[in-house]
Amino acid sequence: MSIEITYPDVAINLVRAKDPVEVTIVENRIATEAGSPSFIRHITFDVSGTPLEGNITAGQSIGIIPEGTDENGKPHKVRLYSVSSPSRGEDGQSTLVSTTVKRVIDEHWDTKDIYTGVCSNYLCSLPVGSKVKMTGPSGKRFILPEAANDFNYLFFATGTGIAPFRGMTMDLMEQGVHNEIAMIFGCPFRTDLLYRDYFETLNQQSTHFHYLKSISREAPRGDGSKHYVQYQLIDNRELLEPMLRKDNTLIYVCGLKGMETGIYQILAQQGYLDYLKIPEELQDKDPASWSWEEIKSIKPSDRMHVEVY
Ligand code: FAD
Ligand code: A2P
Repeated sequence: MSIEITYPDVAINLVRAKDPVEVTIVENRIATEAGSPSFIRHITFDVSGTPLEGNITAGQSIGIIPEGTDENGKPHKVRLYSVSSPSRGEDGQSTLVSTTVKRVIDEHWDTKDIYTGVCSNYLCSLPVGSKVKMTGPSGKRFILPEAANDFNYLFFATGTGIAPFRGMTMDLMEQGVHNEIAMIFGCPFRTDLLYRDYFETLNQQSTHFHYLKSISREAPRGDGSKHYVQYQLIDNRELLEPMLRKDNTLIYVCGLKGMETGIYQILAQQGYLDYLKIPEELQDKDPASWSWEEIKSIKPSDRMHVEVY
């Protein structure tokens, strides 16, 4: 028996790139621990007095337009950032909206010098009190359903993909959670466990909340593979199987583009086909024999939400 899932009708595109609003940074703090090779910051904006106030739901994104122009002299384009605050904002008044930004640092394609991502480094370097151009909100489907506490959740995140799940978990806790939530988080080192105190405290205080960490670059798994989020489905099967078997469980995936394929593969191999839309030509084949190309043709069903970038 499948359960009907309806979603709140959230506002989108109230502020567009041709006419952005100016908001003020009220907090900009490092979210990774000392020694981490990544620089990820928790940044909070005061959106009061703009159309965004009261209109941003956990799971949605805001857009930022960095100062300056690109290599062709054109104004920079908008970049999207998932909101990490709960729907009522950091302040409970829907005026303080936060996000979680990773500084993009690469080698330049041509010069082989250091390339620093335009918007992520612009945002991360701004002091409190700075004004920035914001658009949004965007995203209509990567949100919690109505009657959110009628469902169980498996949240899979890598890196800054944790942002929407901080806000969603806070929303669920505020409503008084009585179902199960598993927050499965993947990062390179334990110094990169974003919002670790919040999730560890919940894990200790609530028997409904499970925080599972997949740290990829420290100890390997028994078979020598890296600890990736999808392997929690194998390594923590005892905990996750009863959740996955319930009709009222939803899966949300957010983070690195490509992470969803590994999750589809293990869900299929374990027989959790309700979460997947499987193409006709694969339906009579044993999931264990599917090639990687075939797995990539799988789409999420209406019980799974994917936002990867
Ligand atoms: P850019 O300068 O735009 O570079 C983008 C990429 O191209 C980088 O990988 C960069 O290394 C490469 N690149 C560009 N030019 C060169 C060059 N000359 N040489 C070498 N490499 C180059 N990000 C977050 O941190 N947190 C979030 O919560 C978040 N949420 C998102 C939600 C959605 C729905 C989407 C679509 C994206 C989200 N992102 C998030 C990603 C974010 O929008 C930006 O893409 C990211 O911050 C990089 O932007 P940038 O301007 O810093 O990098
Ligand atoms: P690794 O980079 O060791 O291969 P961040 O965004 O902070 O770098 O974290 C992303 C995390 O996701 C890292 O631990 C990274 O591991 C891991 N990762 C990389 N590729 C995948 C994948 N295809 N599926 C799941 N996790 C992945």
